[in-house]
Amino acid sequence: MKGIILAGGAGTRLYPMTQIISKQLLPIYDKPMIYYPLSLLMLAGIQEVLIISTERDTPHIMNLLGDGSDFGINLTYKVQSHPNGLAEAFVLGEHFIGNDDVTLVLGDNLFYGDITFFKEAVASQIAKKDQFKARIFGYYVEDARRYGVVEFDKSTGKVLSIEEKPLEPKSNFAIPGLYVFDSRCVQRAKTQRPSKRGELEITDLIQTYLDDNELGVGVIGRGVSWLDTGTPDSLLEAAQLIATTQKRQGLMIGCLHEIGYRKGFLDPVAFSKVVAGLPSGPYRTYLEKTKD
Ligand code: DAU
Repeated sequence: MKGIILAGGAGTRLYPMTQIISKQLLPIYDKPMIYYPLSLLMLAGIQEVLIISTERDTPHIMNLLGDGSDFGINLTYKVQSHPNGLAEAFVLGEHFIGNDDVTLVLGDNLFYGDITFFKEAVASQIAKKDQFKARIFGYYVEDARRYGVVEFDKSTGKVLSIEEKPLEPKSNFAIPGLYVFDSRCVQRAKTQRPSKRGELEITDLIQTYLDDNELGVGVIGRGVSWLDTGTPDSLLEAAQLIATTQKRQGLMIGCLHEIGYRKGFLDPVAFSKVVAGLPSGPYRTYLEKTKD
């Protein structure tokens, strides 16, 4: 399983914060936003990740995360010249994906809590346990109109419909920006037509799997927080959630160095070397304690 983080877009709803820096590099409390979706991929065991962003922002993200070796993973980068839609990630990622399965996560989506739902989806996809070749998730929200929406049969779990930002949602289940596909998503995205708003829509790609009876949906329970951090309010709420939880537990959320170490991507010697090279401060002090 490979991973793609889509971290481009104009970030207009966060202007002027995004005038000179990408939204995905803005802080969520004590870490850049992109740390969180990357940590989710790592926690599910994904070590090969392609990061796609704009021409302006890709060099900054490269400066921040490098080749991933500090976390025991392998990061590569690709520029998306225009925000042509989420499904374009698979066209740009063709070479990277090859014949593998791939998870796409949006660089502004933050998940916190028990992520068994995602680990199980990744494991089932790799093991080809069922007929599903694409997997999406459903998260109950009060108002689903801002999101992709999935309608499914509550007793069988069968997906009935998916719609992008419907005026009258058929269900309360929003589709978070986290999707698992087989490698055929590349060819499908390549033959996709732009929507009325000129984008390669992720929902149109998902629809092709639904048409073939190959789409699975996993419900994310209420123990998990899913936040998309595209507005000043949601940015603040996400920061408060992370700060409150971290202060209570004394444990960091989305700490890439720690996850790399705990997952065994970095051995203790390599981890100590990386930590010794970090600037002194609370982040490094925390990691120094992690080893004990
Ligand atoms: O957050 C979940 C929602 O994300 C889903 O429920 C929707 O089905 C999906 O379309 C998407 O909706 P958004 O309205 O949030 O999409 P937006 O155009 O804002 O793009 C999401 C992120 O992806 C944003 O951080 C910018 C980035 N992006 C977007 C486009 C269209 C890119 O990097 N490249 C792009 O071409």
